[in-house]
Amino acid sequence: MDDNGHLNLLSHDSFANGVPHKTFDRLRREDPVSWTDGDTTVKGFWNLTRHADITLANREGLVFSSAQGIRLEDQSHEEYMARRTFQETDAPEHTATRRTVNPNFAKPVVGRFESLIRELASDITDKALQQTEFDAVDAIAKQLPMMMLGRILGVPDEDLDWLVEKGDALIGNSDPDFTDHVVDKMDTSAYRFMPFRSPAGVELYDYASDLLENRRAVAEDGILAKMMRDENGLKELEFKNFFCLLVAAGNDTTRYSIAMALNLLAHNPDLIAQLRRCDHWETCADEFVRLASPTMHFRRTITQDFELHGKTLKKGDKALLWFVSGSRDENVFEKPHDCQLDRNPNRHLAFGQGGIHVCLGMHLAKLEVRIAIEELVKRIDRFEAIDVPTWTRSNFICGVKKLHVRAIKAA
Ligand code: HEM
Repeated sequence: MDDNGHLNLLSHDSFANGVPHKTFDRLRREDPVSWTDGDTTVKGFWNLTRHADITLANREGLVFSSAQGIRLEDQSHEEYMARRTFQETDAPEHTATRRTVNPNFAKPVVGRFESLIRELASDITDKALQQTEFDAVDAIAKQLPMMMLGRILGVPDEDLDWLVEKGDALIGNSDPDFTDHVVDKMDTSAYRFMPFRSPAGVELYDYASDLLENRRAVAEDGILAKMMRDENGLKELEFKNFFCLLVAAGNDTTRYSIAMALNLLAHNPDLIAQLRRCDHWETCADEFVRLASPTMHFRRTITQDFELHGKTLKKGDKALLWFVSGSRDENVFEKPHDCQLDRNPNRHLAFGQGGIHVCLGMHLAKLEVRIAIEELVKRIDRFEAIDVPTWTRSNFICGVKKLHVRAIKAA
């Protein structure tokens, strides 16, 4: 679907060729708090598209509440209670769980993974470059987050392909390449108590139950083992939902950020030269993640009437915080659609910065993006796209699914 500046943000098809940036550019300019009508399955919603408004909403977390669901889908209270993670709670409830899980993802803790990430990235890149033409998403972008997810959770490598396939089915629940149960094309009510209304949720719940009941091995130093040992830790359903959240959130998002970087490199040889010439490594990961902004929005529910740009957001209304748009707001970013590897400061919103739900895996994701690209750039002379990339069909998650490249190794 061509982006004429007026695409419907409810339709997954509006995103099937990539993010409709012309539509977001227009909305930020002309109608920063716009309304999208619902359809027979989903109620209508507000769209917040400017950086300042998204930041305000993130700060006002009790008015822009996460505690009635964070996806566009409308949930009954029972569905919400069955599926919620701490991401779907407000302070002070959120605070306690976040405090439990935070230490595992703190910057210095994650920094200790640097040599492991480099070792994995090095092997992945060497293996990919054994061929001259390949799908760079499959061969590079997908591999590192998948392997790191396994190391962090403490689950065996042989389970990873299966886990990632299920994670893809959850988060890509509107894309027929990832699931047979496409949410806007069929009745998924049988799975309404499962994460993302997906049958993959049932299988991931079973896997998590096996872990809890010691029917599956889990590494003692992984996060899951630590959480299972913690007596004040998560209850069974909370643990299962947290497990699904990590499998979904810790995987595709980082993959699509690396994929965005690869896509940019494959279309702009100058970026490779820039990365080689000067040291942009400190800032490049943030710039790649800003431009990727793979979780395009999260939803909030208004808890008391709120005025914004002359509109009244009523109690009970849904509001989407379009991080993907705020991260390209021309009032904050010079040449927002350009890739500037040395952009600093880079106040993008791709990790939901500014609110209590700011991404738990942010430091890990940035380290993975940076090292994946470092290891590639070290090894190549040329890296070019030989086909147009394909994109996820989703108004929630955005990313390059396939990127066929020709890569020539450095002598
Ligand atoms: C480039 C990669 C990533 C991006 C763009 C991303 C994006 C986001 C965003 C936008 C939020 C805020 C949600 C909200 O406001 O409701 C978030 C939260 C979260 N992310 Fe990430 N994420 C990434 C990687 C990861 C990784 C690697 C993990 C874990 C291994 C992870 C785990 C989480 C969790 C658990 C939350 C919920 C935090 C809370 O509610 O307190 N993410 N992420």
